[in-house]
Amino acid sequence: MQFYTPRNIEFGRGSIEKLQRYVDGRAIIITGKNTWESVKDFANMDYPVHIFTRTSFTGEPTERDIENLAKVLINEEPQTIIAIGGGSVIDATKLAWIFYEHPEITWNEIYSYKIPPLRRKSKLIAAETTSGTGTGISAAAVVIDQNRIKRGIVSEQLIVDASAYDPNLVLSMSRNTAIYSGMDALTHAIEAYISKINNIPADTLALKAIELIYRNLPESADGDERTRELVHYGNMLAAMGFTNARLGLCHAAAHPIGGRFDIEHGKINAILLPYVVRVNEKCTSRIKDIARVMGVDDVAQALLTMNEEFDIPVTIDFVPEDHLESIASEIEKSALMRVNPCSMSREDILEFLRMAHRGEL
Ligand SMILES: [Fe+2]
Repeated sequence: MQFYTPRNIEFGRGSIEKLQRYVDGRAIIITGKNTWESVKDFANMDYPVHIFTRTSFTGEPTERDIENLAKVLINEEPQTIIAIGGGSVIDATKLAWIFYEHPEITWNEIYSYKIPPLRRKSKLIAAETTSGTGTGISAAAVVIDQNRIKRGIVSEQLIVDASAYDPNLVLSMSRNTAIYSGMDALTHAIEAYISKINNIPADTLALKAIELIYRNLPESADGDERTRELVHYGNMLAAMGFTNARLGLCHAAAHPIGGRFDIEHGKINAILLPYVVRVNEKCTSRIKDIARVMGVDDVAQALLTMNEEFDIPVTIDFVPEDHLESIASEIEKSALMRVNPCSMSREDILEFLRMAHRGEL
């Protein structure tokens, strides 16, 4: 087996400044406008800054946003790209980097995961400013295609060369961003731990991530600095977990439902997660380990209670019932279903959606 992770990870307060030791040659910072305002003093970097703007209403960049960013890279010819931001900034930079290195590549080739070797023109380093997507660690990037469908691209080429997990960068997250990104990270950790891929380092890190995030997210959401730091490290560990042990039913369902009804990725994962745990309980004994680190008897119920405390909906009753069948078909086609603990037929998936729709845990 293998375990993939960035070659260099800096973490702790002030670690973003240490990213400069990985800069070679001409560098450029890609970041978001508000993000840069709140982190530039921590970053303390004297490189040209490009403010990335996203045109989509949801949290992910569009193909056009990425093509525009690629033009900037092609003009500026950096030898080190530094992406500082949440998931959309880092994901957009990862994908624009592909076009910078290989201007002739097409979206179809990217969507079929045919990513040629990168790093001939530039390396990529990153610092996450939310505690959820794990894209500073992972091999994944998400884009909205021309049909407004979210597409996940996965390639080990997209694992950054160096990454910083600096708790100073997440201090300014709003309560809702802290909650939704934290619930995304918790979903990554749980799905990685229970997936059919048993990868000892990934599982070990994912289980620790579950403990860190579940126990610290409520206080972190209230703005407590120490617990916010621990959740940020939980996000880092969860991403090491899912990069190597993958995800399952929750993400397979969150993509079509979140895309159709414009719901933030972390929020729709949070809504679905208690039902995903309940459905998978009969196929894996690992939920017992999760109960132990969370300090609860019933993991699914504890996650539902957590959602109630965060004012997150506890059902998908906002989905019109006549959408459930077509959503089930999309979920069935997802490659993530291959590693979900329970092998599920289309009928099983539909029953899961009905359960989440009725709110019957
Ligand atoms: Fe996610």
